[in-house]
Amino acid sequence: MSVDYLIHDELYKESRAKGWSGWGGNERMAREHILPERLFSFRDVPRAGSSLELGCGEGHYSRILAKKGYQVTGVDVSQTAIDWAKEKTRETAYEIDFLVCDLSKPQVLLNQSFDLVVDGNCLHCIIGKDREIFLNNVHRVLKESGIFFISSLCSSSGVDEIIERNGQPYRTVLSYESLLAELETSGFEVKKSIFYQGDKTSHCTAHVSKCAY
Ligand SMILES: C[S@@+](CC[C@H](N)C(=O)[O-])C[C@H]1O[C@@H](n2cnc3c(N)ncnc32)[C@H](O)[C@@H]1O
Repeated sequence: MSVDYLIHDELYKESRAKGWSGWGGNERMAREHILPERLFSFRDVPRAGSSLELGCGEGHYSRILAKKGYQVTGVDVSQTAIDWAKEKTRETAYEIDFLVCDLSKPQVLLNQSFDLVVDGNCLHCIIGKDREIFLNNVHRVLKESGIFFISSLCSSSGVDEIIERNGQPYRTVLSYESLLAELETSGFEVKKSIFYQGDKTSHCTAHVSKCAY
């Protein structure tokens, strides 16, 4: 199954045309404090060093990480999002590397390693076998002592689902158990995880490290 991740680029063009401040509209953007609160609720998150945001969009989480003193790289499949991230960041004092990168492709981000990798709500955009590639990419670039933080949609019913948009696969909504099992199969050890019950869809977070072999 081939998946068109560039649908996100179209959606960023639409978001900018509507005057939104970021992905999903201004109401969603007003809740941007939630992910960092959840990320830093775990005491073993490295408090300094290099960090990578996956699916950084217009870069608001990357700027929060930069404000905390990390060296930050933000990557996204959408050129429109990366241009927007660079534009917004130029208005600040932060220096962040923003790169266009399709994380469903093997061997991306070669020769880099990070103390902290943050899933900016990107893993649930990745469909089918591409998830193995995505997670391999993260595994390769995460330092042995590093932490990978996942923020993902999760099914409320406990059943794994693919959500479609215009007849195309758009979101992977796994059960909490399936998501944790997938992370373990991909060579990560779950250190902390939380399920946030919603109505139609729920959310979950996980802090994981590389398994010690
Ligand atoms: C749900 S949005 C979240 C954006 C932002 N981090 C936030 O939380 O507001 C998911 C992001 O993942 C990006 N994305 C989707 N598929 C991707 C892929 N294959 N490689 C890299 N980024 C991808 C999208 O362009 C989008 O910016």
